[in-house]
Amino acid sequence: MSVVVLISGRGSNMRALLDAGLPVSAVVSNRSDAKGLEIASARGIATRVVEHKAFATREAFDQALAGVVDGFRPRLVALAGFMRILTSAFVQRFEGRLMNIHPSLLPAFPGLDTHARALEAGVKLHGCTVHFVTAELDHGPTVVQAAVPVRDDDTEATLASRVLQAEHAIYPAAVRWFLEGRLRVEGLRVTGRDLDSADDVLFSPDPQR
Ligand code: GRF
Repeated sequence: MSVVVLISGRGSNMRALLDAGLPVSAVVSNRSDAKGLEIASARGIATRVVEHKAFATREAFDQALAGVVDGFRPRLVALAGFMRILTSAFVQRFEGRLMNIHPSLLPAFPGLDTHARALEAGVKLHGCTVHFVTAELDHGPTVVQAAVPVRDDDTEATLASRVLQAEHAIYPAAVRWFLEGRLRVEGLRVTGRDLDSADDVLFSPDPQR
């Protein structure tokens, strides 16, 4: 029932999964300098590096990566700031048990620089999405989203940090639901989750502040 987490950098989402006590068996990075590797090792979690630069093609890298991941026999593979686009062969191999967290309210702002783009677009609600990964980038059944207000004085950095806090709340919940076998996927719809939230309307600006 374990989870393998793929990272490329800081690893704060990975840390949130560890903090939540989820059964993470290994953390794998495509970069040996990923800060998250140190956090994982310090907590006694197995770490592996599969350097994408060591492979001539994306296919060869993905095959090596899949071999390392499979070695841990994970129930779920969780992408957490993993900055490589995966081949459809990789995605198919782990289909239905491959999740990602993306820093926007998808389908708005797929791809990179989501916070700068949200500010530029003038949206008043921004946020993050946990979704199952399909061959199409940042598109796949949505498990959970969290919205945050965009404030008038926000910079890319302040908005990113507000969203990141929300990421750390929803990713562990999504992984737990998956491991508990609650999630049902039908097309792009995922049901079976339970969030106890009193309010079912989100406003921006947030009237409670
Ligand atoms: C997060 O914002 C995540 O949504 C995005 O990349 C960032 C990774 O941050 N995919 P961290 O490495 O988890 O701290």
